[in-house]
Order: sequence, then structure tokens, then C-alpha cells
Amino acid sequence: MLIHIPNVLNDEEVQRCKKMLVESNWVDGNVTSGTQAAKMKRNLQLPEDCDEAIVIQKVILDALSKNGLFFSAALPKKIFPPLFNCYTGEMNTFGNHVDNAIRTLRGGGKRVRSDLSFTLFFSNPDEYEGGELVIEDTFGEQRVKLPAGDMILYPSSSVHRVEPVTSGARICSFTWLESMVREVEKRRLLFDMDMSIISLRETIGDTEDSIRFTSCYHNLLRMWSDT
Ligand code: NI
Repeated sequence: MLIHIPNVLNDEEVQRCKKMLVESNWVDGNVTSGTQAAKMKRNLQLPEDCDEAIVIQKVILDALSKNGLFFSAALPKKIFPPLFNCYTGEMNTFGNHVDNAIRTLRGGGKRVRSDLSFTLFFSNPDEYEGGELVIEDTFGEQRVKLPAGDMILYPSSSVHRVEPVTSGARICSFTWLESMVREVEKRRLLFDMDMSIISLRETIGDTEDSIRFTSCYHNLLRMWSDT
């Protein structure tokens, strides 16, 4: 399931972060790759612990902590600190690959299982040619290119790639997260249920039935989640 989360960052946040990103010192993106992915990868990344990365990570994580759609879709337990990449010039593509199942945080050795991946766009589609994120989903190939400030959430188990950027620059943030609900089907069901509850409450308000339905959602979440 691919979920588009619009306006994770507002225009002011996008502009502020993008200015910092453009002025940063980018390095070869293979610093974070597994050996198989490294062969397919030609892009730039920000060093994980540089000052700009730390400031913008906080902006993103703060925004996500207030985003109801993100919470409902991901049911996040642990989020790996977001990374940043830039596709431009000769460093312009990342061929088909899969993301590592386990990510180890620097320092304490804590691990994050990658259930879901996300890409948050800092460049608008009219700022570069190409650069679509192509995700091979059970429904076929999905091609994603979103406005700055928007995010796509997709299964980390999928094969994916970034098409060559043939002009301009594509700057994004990306990372992986471990969900409180590991099984995709259960997470999907909870998401559908939550969306239905929201829409029901908007149309009929808080009736006895909508309250009972909400209680079913929370009881399922309680039964299936691992916090
Ligand atoms: Ni990837």
C-alpha cells in the first residue's frame, strides 16, 4: 500500500530547510548503502550527523508527530533519523534495489526493523526532469513525484528505484520506520477502519454506534500493537 501524505511540511518549513540543504556539503551517497545497493546507486547524501541534517531531522520528526494521517497509516514505533539525498548532474540515479531489513542506529547499537520507507520531497516537480521514485507494488509499478512538503509512505519490502534526473536537482529526505503493527494486512485494516471512523464522525457525529466502532478500532490496536 502506498500512501501519499500531503503538506507534511508547510511552505515556510520547506523553504527554510531547503535553503540549508542547498548550502550544505554533500558527499557520495554510498556511505549508507548495502553492497548490492551500492552498485546501483549514484547520488549525493548529507553526512548523517552534520549540523544541517540534525536541525532538519527535528523539523521533520516534529511535523510527523503532529500528523494524524501519518500516525494512522504507519503506526510508528521507531523512526530511523531521516537522511537526505540529492540527485543532480552525474550523481543522478539509483537503480532497482531493496532496502536493508534492519538499520542500526549510530552509537547505542539500537536497531530499527524497516517495515515502511518514506520519501519527503523538498524539490517541486517543475525543478527537475526525471527523478520519479518507481515502486514495484503488488498492484504493479507506481511512479511517484510529489510537490515539495509532501511525503510518500511505502512498504520497505518493495523493489524500488529513482529514475535518472536529466536536468535540475531533486532534493529529498528519506528513511525507514518500524511499525507497532508488524503485519501489513493488520496495519491496512486498522488504517481503513480509522479512515472510516473519521468520515463517519464527520457525517453523523459521535453517536452510540460511532463510539462503539471507535472502541473496536482501539481494542484491535491494543491487541495487535507492540509498543
Ligand atoms: Ni531504497
